[in-house]
Amino acid sequence: MFSKDGKHKDVKTPRICDVIWHNGEFIRWNDARVHVMSHVLHYGSSIFEGIRCYSTKQGPAIFRLREHMQRLLNSAKIYRMDHSWTLDQLCDASVELVQRSDMDQCYIRPILFRSLDEAHPAFGVNPFPNPLACYIGAWDWGKYLGDEAIEQGVDVCVSTWNRLTPNSMPAMAKSGANYMNSQLIKMEALLNGFAEGIALDDRGYVSEGSGENIFLVTGDIVLTPPLSSSILPGITRDSVILICQELGITVKERTIQRAALYVADELFFSGTAAEITPIRSVDRIPVGLGGRGPVTQKIQKAFFEITKGERPAPGNWLTYINEQKTSNNGFAGAAIEAAATTVN
Ligand SMILES: Cc1ncc(COP(=O)(O)O)c(C=O)c1O
Repeated sequence: MFSKDGKHKDVKTPRICDVIWHNGEFIRWNDARVHVMSHVLHYGSSIFEGIRCYSTKQGPAIFRLREHMQRLLNSAKIYRMDHSWTLDQLCDASVELVQRSDMDQCYIRPILFRSLDEAHPAFGVNPFPNPLACYIGAWDWGKYLGDEAIEQGVDVCVSTWNRLTPNSMPAMAKSGANYMNSQLIKMEALLNGFAEGIALDDRGYVSEGSGENIFLVTGDIVLTPPLSSSILPGITRDSVILICQELGITVKERTIQRAALYVADELFFSGTAAEITPIRSVDRIPVGLGGRGPVTQKIQKAFFEITKGERPAPGNWLTYINEQKTSNNGFAGAAIEAAATTVN
């Protein structure tokens, strides 16, 4: 159940994969440690991804793996992280991680960050002397905004915090530092009794939630803010756009005014963690009839059927784990037995 005071975990974290991929090898969860003087802890120098692996009748399948890993590479490029990992290597590593766990569904978290060279430590803001470290972990994550949110919708507010400006912190990069802004938005929302906050951009137009893109339905048209509204180019957002096109629903990228949120027929969030979550009120003003609307439900249904492998996707969106080769990615993968373990 969703915690309104913000003092509890958003969702239960029942199981984790007890191996982690690190720089080409599999290591134990307990061995995945960093030094407290690592650059990333002081200056926020990380970039990461969040990817879902769904349970399907043909076994676990990772949703839009290549697109997520391409975004990771883009984030690394923006932050001049000069690494040697290729798209194929990162995808193969994720597949092998899921194969080594015994989970049929999970959330996959790749992260690349500036660490510490203990033999030649560097402590300044300049990130270049600090070595890069790359890890991929996985755990079983439930419904991000609460179990009932997918059907009932969530109550949200417009945040007093603005989203990052394009020439300060690029929202296009999924960097750890951007999530300081997200945390301000999220904490304010939770402490005021809302599930989530919607941030405006620096011009006052709707941007996105602390960890989700947003869609607005007006009549039979679906609108979403453009990338110029300081949003993360969401993979789920892209999926929603393509699903709408397949369903014959008109979808447009448009700058959206705050007031349009209050008079929308339907609103919903999209994101890997949140999936497609209806919004039932904004600042205590009911959205439409105050629940999940029919257009949202239609898009949601198609999305969940696709992620379960029960409906053809508009592209090659599912990487079926059981169909991929194991340990064939050129890494000296450590021979560690993997299993999922329970965390309380
Ligand atoms: C700030 C923000 N916007 C949007 C999204 C949705 O992106 P995606 O659909 O790729 O998960 C996320 C989640 O990663 C996010 O953190």
